[in-house]
Amino acid sequence: ESASESASASPSAAGKKISLGFAQVGAESGWRTANTESIKSSAAEAGFDLKFSDAQQKQENQIKAIRSYIQQKVDVIAFSPVVESGWDTVLKEAKDAGIPVILTDRAVDSKDDSLYVTFIGSDFVEEGRRAGDWLVEQYKDASEDVNIVELQGTTGSAPANDRKAGFAEKIAANPHLKIIASQTGDFTRAKGKEVMQSFLKAHKKIDVLYAHNDDMALGAIQAIEAAGLKPGVDIKIISVDAVKDGMTAASEGKINFIVECNPLLGPQLMQAVNDVVAGKEIPKRIVTEEGTFTSEQAKEALPNRKY
Ligand code: AHR
Repeated sequence: ESASESASASPSAAGKKISLGFAQVGAESGWRTANTESIKSSAAEAGFDLKFSDAQQKQENQIKAIRSYIQQKVDVIAFSPVVESGWDTVLKEAKDAGIPVILTDRAVDSKDDSLYVTFIGSDFVEEGRRAGDWLVEQYKDASEDVNIVELQGTTGSAPANDRKAGFAEKIAANPHLKIIASQTGDFTRAKGKEVMQSFLKAHKKIDVLYAHNDDMALGAIQAIEAAGLKPGVDIKIISVDAVKDGMTAASEGKINFIVECNPLLGPQLMQAVNDVVAGKEIPKRIVTEEGTFTSEQAKEALPNRKY
C-alpha cells in the first residue's frame, strides 16, 4: 500500500473527525489538572472527537474505559497508566481490534513493546537523579548524618518507582545521607500532610523531606508549620513538578529545590495521533524536556508560569 493510499483511507482525509479515547489517571494533583486541561484544549484545537474518562486513580476503571473505547471503535486510544504492571491483556485486546495505543506521561512494564506505538513523557529516573544531585551538593561537607524522609507517589506507579530509584542512586555517593522513613502519600496534598504528621511524631530529627510531587510537599508544609517548625529552614524540602502552587512555596523559601515535570503533553500527543492515523512512522519514545528551580529561580520564573 502506498503512502497516499493509506492517507486517503485515514479518517481525517475522509473528512471524518479523528476519534481519540483518553483514559486519564484521575485528578489527584495540580500537575494532573494542568495535564487534563492541556489534553482537552489541544484535542479541541486539533478538531478531534475526544472521549475522556477519569479513573480516580484505579487501574480497574482505566481498563474499563479502554475496553469501552475499543467497543466504540475509536481511531486511537491514549492513556496515562496509573501503575506500571498488569496491562498486557487489555493492550492485546486493543491490538487485536487494530486500534493503536499511545502512552502518555507514564509507562507500562510490558515486555512486548508492540502493544503500544509510542510513549510520550518525562524521564522520571532522571528527575530523581536531579533531586539527588542537588542534595549531594548541599551536604557535601556534612560530618554528621542527614536524616531524610521520603513521600512517595502512588504505589506501583512509574513516577514513584523511578523518582525513588534515581534519587537513591545519587545519594549513595554520601553515606551520611540517610533515608530514615519512606511512605506513599498517593501524590495528594491530604495524604502528604497526614504522612508527614506521622513522620514528625516518630522521628525527633528530620533534616530533609524529599516529596515525589509538589502537592504532597504542600501538604507536608502544613504539617511542619503546625508542628512549630519552619519549612525550608528547619527541614529542607525537595519536590518534583514545578506547578504554580509549588513554585509559589519555593519563591517563599518553603521549598528549597523543585525538579520540573512538564504536564503540557497535549500538543505532542495530538501530533502523534495525527501521524499515527496518517500511517507515518513515529519514534517509540518521545522525551519531554525539563529543568530545575532553586528558590531564587522559582521567584524569577513564577510570573511567566503557565500552570
Ligand atoms: O505522572 C506524573 C505525576 O503524576 C506527577 O508528578 C504527579 O503530580 C502526578 O500526580
